[in-house]
Amino acid sequence: MFTWWSILIAALALPCSAAAANNTNTTDAVALRIMPVGASVTFGVGSTTGDSYRKDLRGTLTQAGHAVNMVGSHKNGRFADNDVEATSGFVIAQITRAAEASAPKFLPNLVLLEAGTNDCNSGKTVSTAGANVSALVGRLFALSPGATVVMATLLANKVAAQDACRVDVNRQYSAVAAAMAQQQARFVLVDMRGPDAPTTADLNDTRHPNDAGYVKMAAVWSQGIQQALAKGFLSPPADNGIPLDGGDGTATTPAAAVVSGAAKTTGQAAHASVATALSRSGLAAFSGFACSVAAFFAGALAFM
Ligand SMILES: *[C@@H]1O[C@H](CO)[C@@H](O)[C@H](O)[C@H]1NC(C)=O
Ligand SMILES: *[C@@H]1O[C@H](CO)[C@@H](O)[C@H](O)[C@H]1NC(C)=O
Ligand SMILES: *[C@@H]1O[C@H](CO)[C@@H](O)[C@H](O)[C@H]1NC(C)=O
Ligand SMILES: *[C@@H]1O[C@H](CO)[C@@H](O)[C@H](O)[C@H]1NC(C)=O
Repeated sequence: MFTWWSILIAALALPCSAAAANNTNTTDAVALRIMPVGASVTFGVGSTTGDSYRKDLRGTLTQAGHAVNMVGSHKNGRFADNDVEATSGFVIAQITRAAEASAPKFLPNLVLLEAGTNDCNSGKTVSTAGANVSALVGRLFALSPGATVVMATLLANKVAAQDACRVDVNRQYSAVAAAMAQQQARFVLVDMRGPDAPTTADLNDTRHPNDAGYVKMAAVWSQGIQQALAKGFLSPPADNGIPLDGGDGTATTPAAAVVSGAAKTTGQAAHASVATALSRSGLAAFSGFACSVAAFFAGALAFM
């Protein structure tokens, strides 16, 4: 008798857990709460719009079915979801402080990190870049649990001494990536000097990409994010009230929207996405509830 009902319980529980897993939709198009972290390039200096790589990357990801909300304590660019955690001129130490302040506030599930360009401005070798950036990545993992970090190597620069410094920093970053892989950390290093990356011909000045350069950067970031997705690194963003979708309308001017990512609940796109998210989670909750009821009755029957 007991064994017979146990089999029924198992039969009821199996499809329930499979359905619940699908409702969370974590495998194919996980929502991406992206915190772009860096300095002037991440901010968008050198592009005609201030969009940096961020607008194009966002378009690629939303086309692939991801809800995207960019987060950060600053805004730049002529698109709605233009939050960014970047300040021109920042060196690794300053980027670290800014990222550490913002990570717990926004709880991104994906951080795009480019740090170290300005540490090379003097043209001298920076032997501690790798160690310090590695520590920053560790802090991001701790401050935004479950987050994935996609980090870029440093772009080509037209000033020879600065470029030599950057090449050396990139060598350090490769070692960081190897160590992260050994620890099975949710970390991907993308090569911003690889075949698809901007060259010195794609710069607006000696250091900042022009619009074409930023388009190339977006493609390289996208490849890194695809790698992270393929490895199963991405889990849904924390439920802390920040909408899954940051909106894809076009802001009339960059200054028009000054609310922070955390407070960004206005705008039609954001409202629509909240409604969608709510109806989705409502469905998941209902199916979870129905499964619990079925399991309860099955359990009760087992003792009859
Ligand atoms: C869940 O999704 C997977 C892959 O998309 C599919 O093979 C499976 O049949 C789905 N399960 C249910 C219960 O819908
Ligand atoms: C170069 O960068 C500046 C400052 O970001 C920008 O105003 C200008 O439009 C850019 N020029 C080109 C050709 O990209
Ligand atoms: C997950 O969400 C995406 C985008 O909304 C959708 O295209 C895909 O079919 C969903 N997958 C499942 C298994 O529900
Ligand atoms: C790395 O951190 C150490 C210790 O805080 C500091 O002395 C050094 O200047 C840092 N280097 C860089 C490139 O940030």
